Amino acid sequence: MARFHPLRVAAVDRLTDDSVTLTFDVPPALREEYRFTPGQHLALRRSVDGTEIRRTYSICSPAPRPDAPGEPRTLRVGVRLVEDGAFSTYAFKELSVGDELEVMTPAGRFTLDPAPGRYAAVVGGSGITPVLSIVTTLLEREPRADFCLIRSDRTAASTMFLEEVADLKDRWPDRFQLVTVLSREEQQAGLDSGRLDEERLARLLPALLPVAEIEGWFLCGPFGLVQGAERALRGLGVDRRLIHEEIFHVDGGVAAEPAPPAATPAHSTVTATLDGRSGTWPVLDGETLLETVLRNRADAPYACKGGVCGTCRAFRVSGEVRMDRNFALEPEETEAGYVLACQSHPTTDTVELDFDR
Ligand code: FES
Repeated sequence: MARFHPLRVAAVDRLTDDSVTLTFDVPPALREEYRFTPGQHLALRRSVDGTEIRRTYSICSPAPRPDAPGEPRTLRVGVRLVEDGAFSTYAFKELSVGDELEVMTPAGRFTLDPAPGRYAAVVGGSGITPVLSIVTTLLEREPRADFCLIRSDRTAASTMFLEEVADLKDRWPDRFQLVTVLSREEQQAGLDSGRLDEERLARLLPALLPVAEIEGWFLCGPFGLVQGAERALRGLGVDRRLIHEEIFHVDGGVAAEPAPPAATPAHSTVTATLDGRSGTWPVLDGETLLETVLRNRADAPYACKGGVCGTCRAFRVSGEVRMDRNFALEPEETEAGYVLACQSHPTTDTVELDFDR
């Protein structure tokens, strides 16, 4: 069960004009709870004028070895400044070393457990953040693995983790391949410029690497880039189960799926199990199951409330729901019975969810 704890800010480091990393100290008593798998994220929360704000940020540091005691001592996340973003503006302008922030224990399934093989990623902008943790952990721990990173950014100056990624090339020149595409800058020496879209990736990928031999694809960034990369891979015959996706920004107008006609029964109830305790409550007209549960259990897990981060994932024990949209769960998860509570509306009189599974 995800939990918040206050963690002390150990460092705020500027990466680019519009991005920073935040490093948190993890006290010894909490290190077991904050163990993470590379690719996971942290939800941060603060209260502004009585309103709670939550945002998720991916961990960029390599994951501790499973057998390393007393780890992780610190957690580092990447934060890009969003125009008028209530949290990122605060992280940029106000947050300083020594402050405390409420940090949720790590969550997310955009992850890789290091194993021998060939892996690749297509990332855009701040989508590099979880992939940096994935690549570094993999190359450090698994000598029989290699990784090809294709990254797309606007300009070199706006590229997050430029030095860290260059460092990977220096440390593992034979096992790490880097392709950078800048959309707003002419590149030199025959390197690519322009946008990475489906058509371009369909041509680029087979020229860069043996597509059929890649054991895991990691796509992360804005909705359009991730969707285009997935279509390109599917067009090249890549099995859907080898493709892992994490979307950072969803433009509601572009990404919203038409919601099916509302069919919420007049008197539905939801039974939810959280942290081993269950309760049953009526679902008010039009509200999501997460909203129903939150009215009664303030500890229900969530971050984005937009179907993107996956923090509100719950197992549907019984009953039926319809989801407004889903950019977080893989097809295997929905087939196995998982739903996003923040997007779910009941279509049967009773629905039972288990947040602990
Ligand atoms: S809270 Fe982010 S997907 Fe539901």
